[in-house]
Amino acid sequence: MQTKIEKISPTSLQWAKELIEKGDVVGIPTETVYGLGGNAFNDDAVKKIFEVKGRPNDNPLIAHIHRDYDLTKIIDYDPPYAKKLREAFLPGPLTLVYPSTGKVSPYVSCGLNTLAVRVPSHEGAQAFLRLVDIPIVAPSANLSKHVSPTSANHVYDDFAGKIPLILDGGNSTGGIESTVCDVTGDYPVILRPGLITKEMIEKVCGICEVYTPNFDSGEKVKSPGVLYKHYSPRCQTYLFGFDEIDGALWKAEILKKESLKVGILCENGVKTEFEKAGFLVFDLGTTEREMATNLYGQLRLAEKLVDALIAVEPKKQDGVMTGVMNRLKKACLSTDVPRKG
Ligand code: TXA
Ligand code: MG
Repeated sequence: MQTKIEKISPTSLQWAKELIEKGDVVGIPTETVYGLGGNAFNDDAVKKIFEVKGRPNDNPLIAHIHRDYDLTKIIDYDPPYAKKLREAFLPGPLTLVYPSTGKVSPYVSCGLNTLAVRVPSHEGAQAFLRLVDIPIVAPSANLSKHVSPTSANHVYDDFAGKIPLILDGGNSTGGIESTVCDVTGDYPVILRPGLITKEMIEKVCGICEVYTPNFDSGEKVKSPGVLYKHYSPRCQTYLFGFDEIDGALWKAEILKKESLKVGILCENGVKTEFEKAGFLVFDLGTTEREMATNLYGQLRLAEKLVDALIAVEPKKQDGVMTGVMNRLKKACLSTDVPRKG
């Protein structure tokens, strides 16, 4: 199969719609990362998404809708605080997990009685969702375990020959996946940190908890995605704390002596230390938003250019950086480096 990258236009959107209607999957841009979209009502389309990604079949998908889609078609209960969250943050990088009506394919939520719903703010995504006018399930458009994609070319790198079309809506500006927040209980509970932070949700709802799975208790994990290795570049990775620059330099020198090409991933403020020592630096930027935007692009660039990547944690770790650190840790601490499938 030939995979085409097409800029968003009336013609490419129409083609995407036709593909979706016949059960195909299509690469789509969003403001966070690119997604691999399919018709949420079509069992075969949903199964195809799991297949083409190599995604474990107990990790549920997010349904994406346009801003005027009638939520009551797909969700069963809508607590008043969820309405407040929608008014404050949507369209935008916040996914809400509601009790489901069970109308979408049972494969979407992998047997859970809830449904994760997201209204992306990306204009191209909105235009596409409005044209198809059905919920589109879309995981991040990367092979399972690999780094999430923030450009159409990233999607191409993982899925060339496997999907017919990637809609190109430019680089994703958000850079890390949406905050996933459970709204099935009395108050919001964050299942995956992202650009909409705990503090921002607290301001709107008065209270917000963060779910931390207890792997030892035998309890069923609320958001199965947290169990899996994720976001890993295809090179060796090491992670050092923000106050361990000497340790990072020491490790980099050792790896260099082993004839490995070594790169450093760090925030802008500390990069000269590494440049002076002659290492290739992958610069995350300065502000928390910049670091979120740049993280995946730099990980994907690094895997192409170096054998070993030493990441140094940025100093700021709260707010948006909670989400960035969550991804960075998973990327660097994964031991099984994914190979191209
Ligand atoms: O920004 C995003 O959310 C991107 C773009 C494409 O929209 N999508 C994305 O999808 O990151 P994915 O499939 O890579 O991650 C979905 C996360 C997983 O951690 C999954 O376990 C969780 O959402 N999730 C989905 N449905 C759920 C549900 N019903 N209950 C709890 N967690 C759910
Ligand atoms: Mg993902």
